[in-house]
Amino acid sequence: MDKRINGKFDLTKEAVLLIDKGLHKIYWVGTTSQKALRSNIYLIIDSEEGIIIDCGARVEFKETVNRIKQVLPPSKVTKIFANHQDPDVTSAMTDWLELNPQITIITSPVINVLINHYVGNNKKYNFHNTEIEPKLTLKSGAVLEFIPSPFMHSPGAVTIYNHKTKTLFSGDIWSAISLEWKLILDYDFQEHIENMDMFHQGYISSNRACRYFLYNLKDKDITNIMPQHGSIITQNNLNSAFRYIRDLKCGIDFFPEYSDKDLDFIKS
Ligand SMILES: [Fe+2]
Ligand SMILES: [Fe+2]
Repeated sequence: MDKRINGKFDLTKEAVLLIDKGLHKIYWVGTTSQKALRSNIYLIIDSEEGIIIDCGARVEFKETVNRIKQVLPPSKVTKIFANHQDPDVTSAMTDWLELNPQITIITSPVINVLINHYVGNNKKYNFHNTEIEPKLTLKSGAVLEFIPSPFMHSPGAVTIYNHKTKTLFSGDIWSAISLEWKLILDYDFQEHIENMDMFHQGYISSNRACRYFLYNLKDKDITNIMPQHGSIITQNNLNSAFRYIRDLKCGIDFFPEYSDKDLDFIKS
């Protein structure tokens, strides 16, 4: 991916073409709100069909639609993927379903139980269960593979490996928080670690969960990582990025351990 993309597009309003494989393209259609935790939203256009990866917050729905309109009629969005249930990731699904009730929501069954609460009681939507169907072949032949990332941070979190573009859509993993922001990481990875630490130490559950997820990536040829917050990580920084998650101490790794004696108010 070309790092010159950072200077080539007006990120305040444009849809940004990240990868172009002819019938299969990836765009960034996220938000540049002044919040430090701004959302990256990605759009795959595959043979004129739109698939949104993490559709974002309700308050940003109009901004997202305006960006998508530049490259695809919003009525051609047929699928929305949800990494997990958080409002910054998924709440705009209610607006999308109002626009087109035929849209299929792709997620894990654990997440589906939760995001059901975003829609009214009598409303049903098409659901692609990533546990039952862990691969989705699109019209162009491109394959999306759903790889679980349990407890990173949500128990049912699921990522996507795009075999066509060798992209990992990683949700909150490799996310970063900062007021200053570059869409594509074009500065020193060491500097980026501080922004990633702010997010991971508080949100990701433990190093054991990190290693379980990395093991699932063992046979995947990944050339770029697209997280839900912060910067896209490209090939030259991938090994540093994997090393970061392998060695990360986070969440309950910082908890003290209490013995039965410490909890002696409980009768054995
Ligand atoms: Fe989250
Ligand atoms: Fe998030």
